Amino acid sequence: MDAKRLAGEKAVEYVEDGMILGLGTGSTVYWSILKLAEFVQRGLTVSCVATSKKTEVLATELGIQLRDIFECRGLDLTIDGADEIDENFNLIKGGGGALFREKMVASISRRFIVVVDDSKCVSTLGRFVLPVEIVQFGWNITSNRVAELDCVPKLRMEKDVPFVTDNGNYILDCTFNTINDPQGLDRKLNAITGVVDNGLFVGMADTAIVGGQDSVIAKVNNTRL
Ligand code: A5P
Repeated sequence: MDAKRLAGEKAVEYVEDGMILGLGTGSTVYWSILKLAEFVQRGLTVSCVATSKKTEVLATELGIQLRDIFECRGLDLTIDGADEIDENFNLIKGGGGALFREKMVASISRRFIVVVDDSKCVSTLGRFVLPVEIVQFGWNITSNRVAELDCVPKLRMEKDVPFVTDNGNYILDCTFNTINDPQGLDRKLNAITGVVDNGLFVGMADTAIVGGQDSVIAKVNNTRL
């Protein structure tokens, strides 16, 4: 079976009746959402907060009950994908452009499960570009300041126009090659005027479910126990 599918479906085993869930975005958590919908059809009761308009549409089509984050003081569990995960459970996210909502949802979750295929596991983050969400006003000034952190930022495009996030912002895809201090970089990026947030998720993941060719393993982040 597909590695993404194995990981995505496995995560749903952690869902319990009555939970309020965060639903991530992307092609791995897609399988979690499909599996969750099967359980809901069989009588599981959950309500969910979506991390993107895409996920909102998918969940609604599948009959999963959604609620506004505004109504939630906390979530029981969030399941989401990642573009990279290192040995300390730090993540790069935002390949799909949903990083801000994903981080907001994860930040109010008691448990955060990351679902990935094994190609996403790295010893040091940075092979994948780091997405940084920035406001449109003065975006080139923000981009120049981000570049001062030793990276090459590139405005994400969709066809011939800049990609716009669900929050009405732009994304800079930043090539760092190696990120040796994710925590420090996260702070530096978010201190720049014009930066909304960045795709580094430091110390947030509790469990990583990693799919391989025909097996799946769950790794627990002991520092979060
Ligand atoms: C969406 O903005 C991202 O953070 C995704 O969670 C991430 O890109 C992983 O996506 P896939 O599961 O599609 O690889």
